[in-house]
Amino acid sequence: MHEETDWPRVRFERLQAELTALGEIGRDEKRGLYRMAFTDADMEARDWLCERIREAGLLDSRDGAANVSARLTPPDDRPALLIGSHIDTVPNAGIFDGSLGVLIGLECLRRIAEEKIETRWPVELISFSDEEGRFGGMFGSQAVAGMLNPEIIHNARDLDGVTLTEAMAGHGLVAMDALNARRDPRAIAAYLELHIEQGPVLDAKGVPIGVVENITGLFKWSARLIGTPNHAGTTPMEMRHDPFAGLAEFTGEIPRILEENGSDLARATIGRVELLPGAANTIPGEVTFSLDVSDTDPEKLEELHDAFRRTLSVIARRRTLMFDFEILSRIEPVRCDPRVVEAVEKGSARLGIGSLRMPSGAAHDAQILAQLAPMGMVFVPSIGGVSHSPAEWTSWQDIEHGANVVLQTVIELANNPDFATQPTRAGLTTS
Ligand code: CO
Repeated sequence: MHEETDWPRVRFERLQAELTALGEIGRDEKRGLYRMAFTDADMEARDWLCERIREAGLLDSRDGAANVSARLTPPDDRPALLIGSHIDTVPNAGIFDGSLGVLIGLECLRRIAEEKIETRWPVELISFSDEEGRFGGMFGSQAVAGMLNPEIIHNARDLDGVTLTEAMAGHGLVAMDALNARRDPRAIAAYLELHIEQGPVLDAKGVPIGVVENITGLFKWSARLIGTPNHAGTTPMEMRHDPFAGLAEFTGEIPRILEENGSDLARATIGRVELLPGAANTIPGEVTFSLDVSDTDPEKLEELHDAFRRTLSVIARRRTLMFDFEILSRIEPVRCDPRVVEAVEKGSARLGIGSLRMPSGAAHDAQILAQLAPMGMVFVPSIGGVSHSPAEWTSWQDIEHGANVVLQTVIELANNPDFATQPTRAGLTTS
């Protein structure tokens, strides 16, 4: 493959130095790397990013949700190819979660500028605010997707009771301005995000690139079975209405329900159980439990929901128990756009880098952007599948591979005339 060397490549040492530098912002001995959204460290990281953008001769901007953007040219009436991720972190984080996608995006923009690569659609880097959830998560991408309203913004607060409004005001920002960050879907050609896998698959298989095909959806229940509490010694076995025995039977049905109603990627977990009254010599009267079910196929997820409800109902009836459940959350699975999936695969193949199609088991800003535009994701291996921890790591070699694949993909997507099928209207909404 002699022509391999003709493809543009990232300047890896520069990218590596920036990843290392950003990984120091917000680090201290007590808390490790700590850059929760709208803390001083997070704002320092945004300023640092804007400096890098300007240093590269690119245009930096921030919208009403404080999302940071970089472009080669000012917005015009063409739809832009968006590429990004987030630079906020969980407490005691690793240095790559989110930051890797943002800094690789910046490096791609720089290479396009340096090599004077012509693209049909302008490319924009975007770093989304509060992906990790100090105030609920996906704040910046939801703002762009127009999913926020004044009530959501007003009510958003962190675990210490600090409101989003207060946290943003502390940095001279007005939280309600996030409503202005909304964009017209016609102004976005497509969205691409590189992220660490946060799972063990790529590392275990020794494949450097994950081509994400779909992002998992889920539902979470808080459910209850109610029976009759009674004396453990005097109540005959056949006269009991024991809700824990009902739950045990229900738990035993999980593999069958997944096989019959879910896809190969279906998962179900009961992670919390509470028995009342909770005494060793008393038959429990009530059991409260969580049920967390995920699948990548929307219809299968719906079928799973019905199957779990039916099974619980049958068990309750046979054992003379009552049951109820509350749906705590529900997130729809999304499919990545096949054109983006193919572009990532083609880019990897062109560079002779192995790739594997796979689902994403974790939620990402890309899931929100999928509501606006064709979306795709690239994964790089997480050693041992570890993330949200200082032990999170991806080899520099894999990072270089990932960055080069993203550069290939960006150039390909930014020249794909297909994405013009969305009629474009006067550019981006104001910020
Ligand atoms: Co992340």
